[in-house]
Amino acid sequence: MSSKQFDVVVIGGGPGGYIAAIRAAQLDLNTACIDEWKNDKGGPAPGGTCTNVGCIPSKALLQSSEHYEHAAHHFADHGIGLKDLSIDVKKMLARKDAVVKQNNEGILYLFKKNKVSFFHGRGSFVKAAEGGWEVAVNGESLLARHVVVATGSNARALPGVPFDEDKVLSNDGALRIGGVPKTLGLIGAGVIGLEMGSVWRRLGAEVTVLEGLPTFLGAVDEQIAKEAHKAFVRQGLKIELAVKVGEVKVGKAGVSVAYTDAKGEARTLAVDKLVVSIGRVPNTTGLNAEAVGLKLDERGAIVVDAECRTSLPGVWAVGDVVRGPMLAHKAEEEGVAVAERIAGQHGHVNFNTIPWVIYTSPEIAWVGETEQQLKARGAAYKAGTFPFMANGRARALGDTTGMVKFLADAATDEILGVHIVGPMASELIAEAVVAMEFKASSEDIARICHAHPSLSEATKEAALAVDKRTLNF
Ligand code: FAD
Ligand code: NAI
Repeated sequence: MSSKQFDVVVIGGGPGGYIAAIRAAQLDLNTACIDEWKNDKGGPAPGGTCTNVGCIPSKALLQSSEHYEHAAHHFADHGIGLKDLSIDVKKMLARKDAVVKQNNEGILYLFKKNKVSFFHGRGSFVKAAEGGWEVAVNGESLLARHVVVATGSNARALPGVPFDEDKVLSNDGALRIGGVPKTLGLIGAGVIGLEMGSVWRRLGAEVTVLEGLPTFLGAVDEQIAKEAHKAFVRQGLKIELAVKVGEVKVGKAGVSVAYTDAKGEARTLAVDKLVVSIGRVPNTTGLNAEAVGLKLDERGAIVVDAECRTSLPGVWAVGDVVRGPMLAHKAEEEGVAVAERIAGQHGHVNFNTIPWVIYTSPEIAWVGETEQQLKARGAAYKAGTFPFMANGRARALGDTTGMVKFLADAATDEILGVHIVGPMASELIAEAVVAMEFKASSEDIARICHAHPSLSEATKEAALAVDKRTLNF
């Protein structure tokens, strides 16, 4: 069998893989990308979890459901009256699917534009070959000097409760519920639990979230998490913490979940549908990693060093399949850095400035350390907060929940963390990321002119608050 030769073969076309492939091609490396995701017609659907059943479709549904909630509850404040408000779930899902398709097609276009050879199928290692590796796809053999593995992750199921995507749903099924369920249960009050819970609550479902840990959003700054929790409960999301989930029974009518509540009392939650969002597991299915001796850790993640080198020479791995946060932009950064390293450049990922965003309403976004982390490491720090209640633009928007919080080094004033809960936190956090990347002080932000009226003035004011000199609060 004749083999096609490449400088770089990327296995996986999610944000880690397709971006690595594009960057490698830009650097004049002869590059192929293999991805097996199929659309509903069996055709290629590159973009991975993020594009097909993650970031993009979830944000499409969050947008639709937010419009509905505004129309149902907030338009009246603006003097806008509506009769017979309704939601056509089929149409909402079709719009979401169209957004996904645009992104799939966009990636195929980018492959063409950048001369990346795309293979639609499953890529698997065959063996070490002269000067690199042999990878098989659809019965073809590809020879590569370098292989980048970007095979992503899959939803974790509860032990003994497989996803049927009808009653027991992963993120995939949660994005395809055909009509608003009367009752929806979610196991896990993490990012997916809160985003998906918000979508279906806004559309009228009675939503209960069962979380195993006693703390709500433990990775988030405590003050911010507390504020968000208050807002979610006010909206009608039922969140039970410190539960122990027991037997899950799936019947014709729905699902019943036996659990022990925070007080140790036995309870049962009966719901039409159950979303299990208890984290994700790295995916190496079908890669034939064992045949070439690619080292995995106890969680099944590919073991890599700080620069994404695996245990095998010339084999790299990026994104959800390796350590670190499971975020699309983290995967992309690693993909770019690996392509640059292969080309002999000095690719770099700063793990200290990776932003996190939870796209609920209010949105939650942060970068850097939380106050509890600073306390735990005994750091001397100053804190400044500014509430959106005191921001003119937020009042005009009618969205005044939340605050911006700055944490800065007590001696040098260098920004150590910025935490936001409130309107457009996902966009506002970018300024904080830039500031931290440039090692700015809170005074730097406080001295920069911010447009009026804008939500970003709350960022400036929170920076001023570090020095106890807010102007509008
Ligand atoms: P993936 O996106 O999982 O892509 C891996 C690709 O590899 C897939 O297409 C898969 O089919 C393919 N593949 C696997 N094995 C093979 C093989 N052997 N041969 C060929 N192809 C193969 N992150 C954010 O930053 N922001 C968000 O708003 C956000 N929202 C999310 C919402 C949900 C509901 C979920 C589930 C996740 C969300 N994420 C979000 C996380 C984000 O989707 C992941 O971090 C990101 O997709 C990881 O990218 P990746 O390239 O590592 O893997
Ligand atoms: P998660 O890690 O965010 O949350 C899982 C939650 O489930 C945790 O709070 C955990 O304590 C809880 N849990 C675990 N086992 C449990 C059990 N048996 N019973 C009850 N609770 C239990 O994971 P999630 O929500 O599944 O999302 C997976 C990943 O996808 C995220 O960590 C994130 O990396 C990514 N993602 C990112 C988004 C974004 O950036 N906006 C949106 C959605 C997902």
